Amino acid sequence: MSENVWNERYRQQERLWTMKTEPKIIKYLDLIEEGNILDLGIGEGRNSLPFTIDGFKIYGTDISEIALERCRENLGSKNSVLTNCDIRDYEIEQNKFTFIIASYILNFFKKSEINIIMDKIRKGVMKNGIVYVGALSLLEPNYKEIKIKCDEVEENTFYLENKKSFAHFFTQEELKEYFKDFEIICCMEGVEYDHGHGEPHYHGIIEFMARKK
Ligand SMILES: C[S@@+](CC[C@H](N)C(=O)[O-])C[C@H]1O[C@@H](n2cnc3c(N)ncnc32)[C@H](O)[C@@H]1O
Repeated sequence: MSENVWNERYRQQERLWTMKTEPKIIKYLDLIEEGNILDLGIGEGRNSLPFTIDGFKIYGTDISEIALERCRENLGSKNSVLTNCDIRDYEIEQNKFTFIIASYILNFFKKSEINIIMDKIRKGVMKNGIVYVGALSLLEPNYKEIKIKCDEVEENTFYLENKKSFAHFFTQEELKEYFKDFEIICCMEGVEYDHGHGEPHYHGIIEFMARKK
């Protein structure tokens, strides 16, 4: 989806997402060392909220300037550096981050683009640094319908004509393969109720956290 489409979504609602930080991030907060945090597709900043304290500097990127304006309000500008860009064009500095968050952003790209982003994430996180990926999986309720109706342009990546967007659905094996040299902290898949935005609905998700050795 383009920058305009995302800005339009944000414009339509004063608060597009819940401000609750993902519980898995809270659960493993004590594993995250002080330093630089990178939140890719940061949205309104819910997952970076725990890091608005001394000792952390938050780097956030988003394609929507409206999302970033809300981040500035929610996170404050003292400890945050927010960049308005497409994450496919964002250069991640190597070995800079103690925590990299990719929360419900990677599904919007095709597999070949995800390969490049994952490579940057792997290199961007420093030793003992942690990666969090939250992503839609093959358990997503409309996955089977999409598989029948839409073009599978790359493995588990479909082009959704109505959204003018790619949709990639992840497997646990795929995430483990991207981070095969990392120590896995959690890799959990399931279906969950989402009442955080719009009409309540279900998502099939994987939550994955791993630490660089
Ligand atoms: C589903 S929301 C998730 C927001 C946030 N990560 C969270 O978990 O609350 C996806 C976010 O990614 C942003 N986004 C979509 N495509 C993007 C792209 N190509 N580059 C950077 N950000 C993008 C959207 O503007 C939106 O804020």
